[in-house]
Parts: sequence; structure tokens; C-alpha cells
Amino acid sequence: MPTTSNLVGKRAVLGVTGSIACYKAVDIASKLTQLGVEVDVILTRAATQFVTPLTFQSVTGRRAYRDEDLWGDEGHVLHIGIAKAANLLIVAPATANTLAKLANGIADNLLSLTAVANTAPLLVAPAMDGGMYEHPATQDNLAKLEAQGAHIVGPASGHLASGLKGVGRMEEPALLVGWARYWLGRGGPLQGRRLVVSAGGTQEAIDPVRVIANRSSGKQGYAIAQTALDLGADVTLVSGPTALAAPVGAEVVQVTSADEMLAAVLAAAKGADALIMAAAVADFKPAQASGQKIKRAKGAPTIELSANPDILQAVAAMKGRPAVLVGFAAESQDLLANAAKKLKDKDLDLLVANDISAKDAGFEVDTNRVVILARDGSQAELPLMSKAEVAAALLERVDKLLESK
Ligand code: CTP
Repeated sequence: MPTTSNLVGKRAVLGVTGSIACYKAVDIASKLTQLGVEVDVILTRAATQFVTPLTFQSVTGRRAYRDEDLWGDEGHVLHIGIAKAANLLIVAPATANTLAKLANGIADNLLSLTAVANTAPLLVAPAMDGGMYEHPATQDNLAKLEAQGAHIVGPASGHLASGLKGVGRMEEPALLVGWARYWLGRGGPLQGRRLVVSAGGTQEAIDPVRVIANRSSGKQGYAIAQTALDLGADVTLVSGPTALAAPVGAEVVQVTSADEMLAAVLAAAKGADALIMAAAVADFKPAQASGQKIKRAKGAPTIELSANPDILQAVAAMKGRPAVLVGFAAESQDLLANAAKKLKDKDLDLLVANDISAKDAGFEVDTNRVVILARDGSQAELPLMSKAEVAAALLERVDKLLESK
């Protein structure tokens, strides 16, 4: 199954207008294409001064359009055809001039004509010099566009092409691709479902400097959160400390310790449809964290540990628990027997088991090899796949279970 099946075959129109940030739009086109999205690029005349249609065609594998095409073979209907097929219209970078056209329904080139014919969500990423951005006309146009339902992302502040620093830079492609995924995912099979996903490892304080941590990278949990968003779900991600970028569109609750994760998960799980506990929760914590840094001169300390709460069990016992509870089991021996016991003991609907002794599965790597066990006793042994593919396989099962409840 494709990693983000809900995005495969979706159509996005990427309008590119005359700003130096055009070169970053190529990355947006490329990343969306890699996700399986069919990207129709339309360049304005000014954009073609910075970058050519060929550049975009080379990364999308599809024709990129420019104004001359409006009067080409397909004549006056080209913009209608492109707009009708679109699941999303992205204008990135959007100049002050194009913003003005979009806000006021001016339709004098292929992109602005397409925008007037478009009924899909509109994502706009302004890019211009700081003074142009602050101009009252630009601000009015942005407010007008927002009132019309457009989603404005950015601009960011930082170095501008004029050499000045200020607000006006186009937002980074990764963020724009994140929002594009979010809007393309709406209406997917998990639309209207609220999922809570936990990810990463917890850290338990020994003193103000040292912690007891584990090797969880958070990659599998983050992939589940992203894939759930792609499928249309509303996602709360409760995350331990990780180096990963938060999936765009998720509500992210950052926690450090197991106690904090328990509180955050219990709060988020209220009224949620499913909880997926991918986090590696520390089972034990120092019974008494030292308020001051422990000094070496005092010799090696003995650290007494006490048990952390079991978060899954706490959620399983709560009133109005989510309809579907999913646990993970990282095992280094007797994988299936241990996993089946955890499924039963923790009263779970699904359990994802992986053998962490394998080099290509488990912590830190991008791939995983898992067995998914279900409450009804069934077991699905999945081959080695990316963590995004594992996420898709798991969420397909969560979706089925939710449908059957
Ligand atoms: N889990 C939890 N709260 C804990 C520990 C674990 O909710 N305090 C969850 C994990 O997020 C995971 C599942 O329980 O989804 C199984 O975690 P694991 O550490 O494998 O299980 P334990 O019950 O801690 O068993 P053991 O470590 O002894 O194998």
C-alpha cells in the first residue's frame, strides 16, 4: 500500500508568481509529487523571468503552464479544466500584485483566471519586501482573502532579497507542503475522527542536569500522526523530547516525563475516537529527583527508583474511553507471546509488536518490521517497510474498527 494513499492521485494547482522565492516553489512541487500528488504548475509572466516551466516539468513530470498557453490549443477553457480538477490551489510565492488580483477577483492571466474558477481550498504564501507587505493595500487584500476563506501562511521574517531584514520572506517549503497535505487530506476516510497519538521517549529527572532516557526517536509515532492527518483526522500529538518537526495541522503537546505524558494523554483522550500509544514511556523514575546537581566528589550515588503509572491502563479504565486503544510492544525476545500478553493485560484493541533486536527495525531507523495483533486473536505479520507505510497499515485497521463500532 502506498505510504499516504489518501494523497496519491490528488490534484494540486501550484501558482507561481514573480518573486525570487520562485526557486523554493520548485521544492514544493517536487515534494508534493513525491507524495503522489499530481501537481499542475501555472507560472505568471513575471515568474518566468525567475524560473522556467521546464524546471517544474522536470520535477512534476507534468506540463507546466504559462500565460501563452491560455491562447493555445485548448483556447479559452484551459483554466476551467485545471480548476475543476483541483483538490487544492496553492499560490506560492504570492506577490503583492497577485494577492490584489486574488482578493478582488481580477482575472487577467491564466493563474488569476484559474483562481476565479477554483472551488477547492486556497493556500496562499505571500512573499515580498517588508514595506510592500506592510502597505495598507496589501494588508487589506490579505484580510479580504482570509474573509473569503483563503488560508494564508506567512510571510516569515528574516533576510529579504532587498538586503534588509523584516517580514516578507515566503514561508519555508516544508511548512507549506505540510499545510498542503493538511488541506488535501480533509474529507479523507478519517474525517471527523479525533485521534490521540503519543510519540518519543519520556525523560525522568535524576537532578537538574541528568535524566533517565531511552532510545526512542519518535519517528514511528510522528509518522502515524502525519498519516492520520493525511487521512483527514484531527490529531493531538503528545510528544516526548525529539528532534523531529511537528506534523503541520496537529495539536502538539510537548511533555518530558511519564507523569506529564499521563496528564496530557488523559486530557486529550477525553472524547477522542482512538488513542495510539507509540511512545516509549519510562517504566521507572528516580524516587526522589535531587533539587541540586549531584556532585562527583561525593562518590557514585545509589539512585532509588519508583514505578511510573501505566498510561494505557489508565486510559483503558477511564469513563468514556476512546473506542479504539492501540499499544506498541518493543520486545527483544519472545515477541509474539509477550505481545499477546500485553494486548490482553492492557485491554487493547490492537497491538503493534516489533523485534528491537533487528537492525532495520525499531529505534532510530526509518524502517520497521512489525506484527499487528488484534483483540479477536488475529495476527498480521507485515514485511519490512517504511514507518509511514506501517502507519498506513495500522490506521487502515483503526479505521475499520471505528467503522464497526
Ligand atoms: N505504556 C504506557 N505506560 C507505561 C509504559 C508503557 O502506556 N508506563 C505503553 C507504551 O506506550 C506501549 C505499551 O504500553 O504502547 C507497551 O509498552 P512496553 O514498555 O512494551 O510495555 P510494559 O508494560 O512497560 O512492559 P515491559 O517494559 O515490561 O516489556
